[in-house]
Amino acid sequence: MSIERTLSIIKPDATRRNLIGKIIARFEDAGLRIVGQKQLQLTRKQAEKFYFVHAEKSFFNNLCEFIISGSIVVQVLEGENAISLNRKIIGATDPSNAIPGTIRADFAESVEANSVHGSDSPENATNEIAFFFAQIEIIN
Ligand code: CDP
Ligand code: MG
Repeated sequence: MSIERTLSIIKPDATRRNLIGKIIARFEDAGLRIVGQKQLQLTRKQAEKFYFVHAEKSFFNNLCEFIISGSIVVQVLEGENAISLNRKIIGATDPSNAIPGTIRADFAESVEANSVHGSDSPENATNEIAFFFAQIEIIN
């Protein structure tokens, strides 16, 4: 067991439907602490950079258009095993496969508009946090 930090994004489908508070409550109720948070809207260039690992995928173009279609809330979440805990709370990528009670099962509109992003490994968490946050914006 160790204290980790992970990068969370509340996606445009969720901010559009006023679900920010409900989603944050899921994280806090599970014991994750918000140690950095801001709301912004990505440019196409920034979206392509963030999702570069998916550049060759068939869904890449639509995904980039979706993620820039409205505001997002980016968060640094901290807690015991924060990376895997957050992935458990958000549920499977495709909401039709997500376990009831997970954020995606309860809120996602589709496999693309699936309400949240969560880092999938310690290495990606470090890189994704650095993509969005300066040291001074994260609470120690
Ligand atoms: O977000 P997660 O790590 O669960 O899934 P991913 O495989 O890393 O894909 C990143 C994002 O691409 C997903 O969260 C979806 O928004 C989108 N996606 C999509 O639009 N169509 C797919 N078939 C798979 C993913
Ligand atoms: Mg992923």
